[in-house]
Amino acid sequence: MRLILFGPPGIGKGTQSELICERLGLSHVSTGNLFRAAIRAGSEVGLEAKSYIDAGHLVPGMLTRRLAEERLRELGTQDFVLDGYPRTLEQAEWLSAFLDAERAPLDAVVSLHGPVDEIVHRLSRRRINTATGETYHLDFNPPPPGVEAALVVQRSDDAPDVIRKRLAVYARETAPLEEFFHARGRHYVIDGVGEVEEVYARILAVLRAVSPTMQTA
Ligand code: AP5
Ligand code: MG
Repeated sequence: MRLILFGPPGIGKGTQSELICERLGLSHVSTGNLFRAAIRAGSEVGLEAKSYIDAGHLVPGMLTRRLAEERLRELGTQDFVLDGYPRTLEQAEWLSAFLDAERAPLDAVVSLHGPVDEIVHRLSRRRINTATGETYHLDFNPPPPGVEAALVVQRSDDAPDVIRKRLAVYARETAPLEEFFHARGRHYVIDGVGEVEEVYARILAVLRAVSPTMQTA
């Protein structure tokens, strides 16, 4: 199963990708996570990417290619969920050519949709664990007791002005890709509002429809 989970910042791509990977045994490829790991490691790519991420801009093509596309080449034809990639027409065209060359077609592109108010609320209440990378939500999924408070922080790009910037960048540069996916088929729009398990069940229903023999845990 090769899948893209598509949608605006904060809609729940990371949350749902982790569930899908854990339950269906796919590899999670999140370009945001790859960039944050590179930043933590203090690598050259990480240092260059940080200024773009903190400002809410997309990381330029060559930097993305060095990191994300390397990871995709490593995975080859393995099953995966792409989270946060592609985000531009250039990336989508590269991916399409890459998968064609590997004879590894996508099974589905699932777009999560939801209202801006919900997204802003989710992002403003999101916290991450700097030691484990886990994501929390102060209301729906708070850090468990025993987690050291100093480890639980807000992502640098979850400041209110950066959230607004990221949403604008999404609307201008990334949302139009839905037409690209739609034209190629196997593009499904899912309501991203509701309990985490409700949204998961909607995604699973799509995956079962495209792959009736899929094994689920
Ligand atoms: P990235 O890390 O991918 O950020 P994003 O796409 O903006 O998405 P988020 O991670 O903020 O949200 P999400 O949809 O994963 O939601 P989550 O599950 O966490 O990218 C960061 C930056 O890296 C970009 O801005 C860009 O600079 C750069 N970058 C990355 N990829 C790039 C690329 N391909 N090209 C160029 N630049 C790139 O959920 C959000 C919150 O809501 C959490 O607190 C969660 O617990 C909660 N939540 C989730 N689901 C629910 C639910 N159903 N109900 C209630 N709360 C929920
Ligand atoms: Mg994410």
